[in-house]
Amino acid sequence: MPSQSFVISDLEIAEIDAAVALWEDSGLTRPWNDAREDARRALAGATSTILAGRIAGRLVATAMVGADGHRGWLYYLATAPDLRGQGLGEAMMRAAEGWAATRGMPKLQLMVRHDNPEAKGFYEAIGYTAEPVTVYARRFGAAGQGAGEVVDSSGPGSGWPT
Ligand SMILES: CC(C)(COP(=O)(O)OP(=O)(O)OC[C@H]1O[C@@H](n2cnc3c(N)ncnc32)[C@H](O)[C@@H]1OP(=O)(O)O)[C@@H](O)C(=O)NCCC(=O)NCCS
Repeated sequence: MPSQSFVISDLEIAEIDAAVALWEDSGLTRPWNDAREDARRALAGATSTILAGRIAGRLVATAMVGADGHRGWLYYLATAPDLRGQGLGEAMMRAAEGWAATRGMPKLQLMVRHDNPEAKGFYEAIGYTAEPVTVYARRFGAAGQGAGEVVDSSGPGSGWPT
């Protein structure tokens, strides 16, 4: 752990740009996700937040957490590249676990991209195990278009709206 104290609390809206910069430096952003909007939505939600780890006021770690009524979920875990290997990542995970447990969630879970073996090593080092599940998902259009639509696939030319 660094010599100066590491303090964890909720991310401030004014820190979103710094958080997104950390996520970009950490390889966590993807072109199809609007990271700033992800951050704003998590901070605005009643059952989600972004935990921020700071040293002397500098944002050096993040963990987005949410409680969906059944499980705690974690996204955007990152520590500053120049401060890795000093226990900050594990401290963020323990804080995320505490956040989820406080909201009655019996478990914290997360998804790791297949091209991120370093993250798998980290999670296993701190006591997490891979579960035998496959994640299925369906992405909606810009303003939720496509969500909940029933597609008539009975005739020629019909099908999913493009
Ligand atoms: C993953 C990440 C958050 C780890 O943060 P960190 O601050 O370096 O982690 P810590 O120093 O707390 O490490 C905790 C333990 O995990 C171990 N560990 C860390 N990375 C590891 C790796 N790639 N393989 C094996 N063990 C690892 C550490 O050695 C330490 O174990 P120890 O206490 O026995 O020494 C950081 O590397 C990161 O931000 N990566 C880029 C973003 C990312 O991939 N996030 C996860 C998305 S799913």
